[in-house]
Amino acid sequence: MSPLVSLFLLHIVTASATQLHPGYYLRTCPKAEAIVRDVMKKAFTRDPRSLASIMRFQFHDCFVNGCDASLLLDDTPTMLGEKLSLSNINSLRSYEVIDEAKAALEKACPGVVSCADVIIMASRDAVALTGGPDWQVKLGRLDSLTASQEASDDVMPSPTSNATFLIDLFGKFDLSVKDLVALSGSHSIGKARCFSIMSRLYNQSSTGRPDPAFEPKFREKLNKLCPLDVDQNVTVGLDASPVVFDNQYFKDLVSRKGFLNSDQTLYTFPQTRGLVKQFSIDQGVFFKAFVEGMLKMGDLKVDQPGEVRKNCRVVNSHLPNIVT
Ligand code: HEM
Ligand SMILES: *[C@@H]1O[C@H](CO)[C@@H](O)[C@H](O)[C@H]1NC(C)=O
Ligand SMILES: *[C@@H]1O[C@H](CO)[C@@H](O)[C@H](O)[C@H]1NC(C)=O
Ligand SMILES: *[C@@H]1O[C@H](CO)[C@@H](O)[C@H](O)[C@H]1NC(C)=O
Repeated sequence: MSPLVSLFLLHIVTASATQLHPGYYLRTCPKAEAIVRDVMKKAFTRDPRSLASIMRFQFHDCFVNGCDASLLLDDTPTMLGEKLSLSNINSLRSYEVIDEAKAALEKACPGVVSCADVIIMASRDAVALTGGPDWQVKLGRLDSLTASQEASDDVMPSPTSNATFLIDLFGKFDLSVKDLVALSGSHSIGKARCFSIMSRLYNQSSTGRPDPAFEPKFREKLNKLCPLDVDQNVTVGLDASPVVFDNQYFKDLVSRKGFLNSDQTLYTFPQTRGLVKQFSIDQGVFFKAFVEGMLKMGDLKVDQPGEVRKNCRVVNSHLPNIVT
């Protein structure tokens, strides 16, 4: 075996052997969390929505083979990655903010902080910086060596999903009904495209009719923002206060002004309605449940080998300078 190959193999560790814990970088990169938060603050000044866009990465990364930054890999001639999957194409954005955080980390402590951990830190920061709770994250993840568009297509839920389907899906990840409802509260920040509600507005479940769960005036408003011939890339806030992380999202659901079908269904279906009501009344209870859900989602395991990528978009073996 050539020295180069054995050096490469040495760096491949089984991720499940790693124990996630707070303060993982205390000795190796003590400023890691401060560096990421600083980049997130700057991103907020440039484009407040980018924080929501980045927080969404945690969901789209962790649900697809665990939290391993597989989401961030660019396609290669031999690998179709996750960026162009059904849920991500023309939708996920602000990848450049992660690049910026990673570049700052590489400058401070080269080769130490994984991109998977950057996603976890940045998602927490997005919530904290928009008025939501702040919490301690567990760190020590590794980055995947590959990504799969198919794996993303197979698992990520459609905005037309109903509560029963979502309860089952989250259950497969050991996430409870409470986790589902709390984590859906992430839609307290950010925007969605008209594309994501066209069937709800004009042809719910192929009935040729709108979703009856809409509050009528709210639906009229959305009809104007998203007419049938609209450019479906036009975006609308996911709740009435899309830059502030608060429990407005749940108040909107109670008044039947939820945006996505997957949002409003949480109030329509009896299994989730009580939690929606509770979170709409008590923001503290929502925040606590949200943090618990984010921690559980951040624990989703990877059973494949990993590495600490130098560039979040490319595996190290594909970088021009493999030995540095
Ligand atoms: C419960 C199932 C979920 C479904 C079906 C769903 C679906 C969607 C859809 C369709 C959009 C808009 C995409 C577009 O129109 O381009 C969106 C946006 C968003 N989602 Fe979810 N989502 C779910 C759960 C989550 C979770 C668990 C999180 C994070 C913890 C999350 C965070 C976000 C954020 C922050 C945005 C706004 C992004 C931006 O403004 O760029 N979502 N989601
Ligand atoms: C919920 O969605 C699933 C999957 O699309 C469907 O099979 C089921 O009939 C729906 N349940 C209700 C009560 O509408
Ligand atoms: C609604 O969707 C169904 C199935 O895709 C389609 O056959 C039908 O023509 C649509 N109706 C309207 C009014 O667009
Ligand atoms: C949205 O914009 C993208 C790229 O700018 C384009 O490829 C796509 O077709 C548009 N999607 C819709 C639904 O109009």
